[in-house]
Amino acid sequence: MLIDTYARVATDLRVSLTDRCNLRCTYCMPEEGLKWLARPDLLTDDEIVRLVRIAVTRLGVTEVRFTGGEPLLRPGLVGIVDRVARLTPRPRISLTTNGIGLARTAAALKAAGLDRVNVSLDTLRPDVFKTLTRRDRHQDVLAGLDAAHRAGLTPVKINTVLMRGLNDDEAPELLAWAIERDYELRFIEQMPLDAQHGWKRDGMITAGDILASLRTRFTLDAEESAVRGSAPAERWTVDGGPYRVGVIGSVTRPFCAACDRTRLTADGQVRNCLFAREETDLRAALRTAPRTDGSAPDGTGTTSYEGAIDTGGAVSDADGTGAGPDDEIVRLWKL
Ligand code: GTP
Ligand code: 5AD
Ligand code: SF4
Repeated sequence: MLIDTYARVATDLRVSLTDRCNLRCTYCMPEEGLKWLARPDLLTDDEIVRLVRIAVTRLGVTEVRFTGGEPLLRPGLVGIVDRVARLTPRPRISLTTNGIGLARTAAALKAAGLDRVNVSLDTLRPDVFKTLTRRDRHQDVLAGLDAAHRAGLTPVKINTVLMRGLNDDEAPELLAWAIERDYELRFIEQMPLDAQHGWKRDGMITAGDILASLRTRFTLDAEESAVRGSAPAERWTVDGGPYRVGVIGSVTRPFCAACDRTRLTADGQVRNCLFAREETDLRAALRTAPRTDGSAPDGTGTTSYEGAIDTGGAVSDADGTGAGPDDEIVRLWKL
C-alpha cells in the first residue's frame, strides 16, 4: 500500500509517457515548447512496464492512466498497454490525450486492453481552437473522439478549460453537443500550471461561473449520491438525468485531501502531487540496482520479469533473500 503523510492511499497511478506535445495550449506551454527530455532520460517501454507491475503487484494500484505531454506520441504505446493489460491483477487502464492521432489508433488501443479515454477539447470553433492550442488540428480531435467512441473506449470523457473572452461563452453549446454524442463532458478550472506564469485568479472561470452559464439553458441538480470520493470531478445531472456533467474545481474546490494518486514522470520520478516539488528518482534505482535474476537493469536483457507478472514481484525475491531491485523500488516509492 502507498500511504502518504496525510494517510492517503494511492490506488491510482498516472504515468507520463512523454513530455512532448503536438499542441501548444496557452494554459500549458509556451509557443516554443518546453526544454524536452533527451531520449536516454526517458524510461524505456520495459522500464515503464516493470514499474507498473511493481505498483500493481506490490503497492495496491488498481487504476493506471497514461498521460503526457501527449501520450499518443509515444511509439510504443500500444505495446505498453498490451503488456499492462496482461498483469495480474489486471488494472483498469485509461488514457488522457488531446485526441490527435486517436482516429488511427483507437481500435488497436482497445484491442490491446485500453478501457477508456479522456480527451481535451475546449471549443467547437476551429478558429478558437487554433488560437487556444496554436495549431490547426480541430478536425483531428473531433475525428479522434468519434473513433474512440466507436471503438468502445467508453465512457469517452471530454476535458474542457474555459478562458475568459476566448471560449467562456461556449459552455451550454458544448454540453448540448456532448449529450448528443454520448461524451461525458467535464469543465476544469484553469490551474496555475503554465510555464509562462500567466495565470491570474481573477481571470479564471470558476466552477460557479460554469454552473451559472450552463443553467441559462439546462436544469442542473447535484448528483444524488453526492459522494465525491477521490474523483476530482463533481457531477450534476442535466435536465433530470441520466446525463451528468462534471466540474473539476481544482482551484476553488480543491480535492487534495481525498487524492488517491501517485504520479510517475516520463523520466522516472515519482511525485505524489501535481504541485509537489519533491520527487523520488526511481529511474536511478532501476538503472543502478543489481538484479538478482541475471537480466539487464532496464529489462532489455531478458524478459524474465514477464514471468514474475503472475507471482507478485518474484523477480526480486528469486534468491529468497527478500532483497533486490524490486524491493528497493518499493521502498523508494513508499517514501
Ligand atoms: P477520471 O475522472 O477517472 O477519468 O480521471 P481524471 O479526471 O482525474 O483524469 P484526467 O487525466 O482527465 O484529468 C482531468 C483533470 O483533473 C486535470 O486536468 C486536472 O485538472 C485534474 N487533475 C487530475 N489529476 C490531478 C491531480 O493530481 N491534482 C490536481 N490538482 N488536479 C488533477
Ligand atoms: N489548468 C487546468 N487544466 C489544464 N490542463 C492542462 N493544463 C491545465 C491548466 N493549467 C488540462 C488539459 C487536459 C487535462 C489533462 O489537463 O486540458 O485535458
Ligand atoms: Fe499538450 Fe495537453 Fe499541454 Fe495542450 S494541455 S499543450 S494538449 S499537454
